[in-house]
Amino acid sequence: MALTKLKDMNLKNIKDKICDIAIEVGDYVKEECNKFNKNDIEVKSKNSLVSYVDKMAEEKIVVVLENLLPEAGFIAEEGTSDKKGEYYNWIIDPLDGTTNFMYGIPIYSISIALKYNNEIIIGVVYEPNNKECFSAFKNGGAFLNNKPIKVSNISKISDSLFATGFPYYDYKKLNSYLEILKWLMYNSRGIRRIGSAAVDLCYVACGRYEGFYEYSLNAWDVAAGALLVKEAGGAVTDFKGENNFIFGREIVASNNCITKEFQYKIFNSYIAIESN
Ligand code: 2AM
Ligand code: CA
Repeated sequence: MALTKLKDMNLKNIKDKICDIAIEVGDYVKEECNKFNKNDIEVKSKNSLVSYVDKMAEEKIVVVLENLLPEAGFIAEEGTSDKKGEYYNWIIDPLDGTTNFMYGIPIYSISIALKYNNEIIIGVVYEPNNKECFSAFKNGGAFLNNKPIKVSNISKISDSLFATGFPYYDYKKLNSYLEILKWLMYNSRGIRRIGSAAVDLCYVACGRYEGFYEYSLNAWDVAAGALLVKEAGGAVTDFKGENNFIFGREIVASNNCITKEFQYKIFNSYIAIESN
């Protein structure tokens, strides 16, 4: 019955509904940021922080999505629901950029993706401080506040701006990570580290960054943003150039023009250093 329900609503309609809930919850998170006190921080594990805001935001999202598609399960950062869906699963980060949020830095986001079997079919990322809602659906394109977006067409690394996230608890691949960072420092226009992987991916999708790489991310940090990059015409892989970037904890995203050179550098550094 619920399968019929999904077929009846087209993907664009569902995507629009997801935008509405992401905006509502994003505005709640932003309100809470003004009142937030660092004493409300809980530490889950080394540098993994959470607060009542992350948990409340996730509960608000899960209630709405449960009603929208009752057969879908959840893979959500704060573990509000452990329901597993046979075909459909929501992948949710209620607050991506928690550290920014807790320290009052106004760059964080709400990230919601819908997975059908092994494929992400809807992705929505809302960044409440700039009121930017990024969204995409499979084969339907990518949008910023309902206007179509594309990756940039810059083709030289020397003209390209990159983004990354620094390792903060898993230092196993630090040597190859730093080797790539150094190469970008010498060869690109610059590197940004804004603290929300979901936003980084959306900035690649709308052509602000040419490329992004990071490791040790979770599925909820990247699922929605990765679909945005692909639907905006970009490329997304893991560090080996393969497709295991949602659950594989490694991601490289870029516009198509620099993909070969950027990926070549990442794979070579990674293989040369990690295999020693
Ligand atoms: P989170 O805020 O939802 O946990 C940026 O490097 C990415 O890593 C973000 O998407 C962020 O997601 C995650 N992250 C988690 N803890 C972090 C920390 N202490 N420092 C930096 N990034 C962190
Ligand atoms: Ca996150």
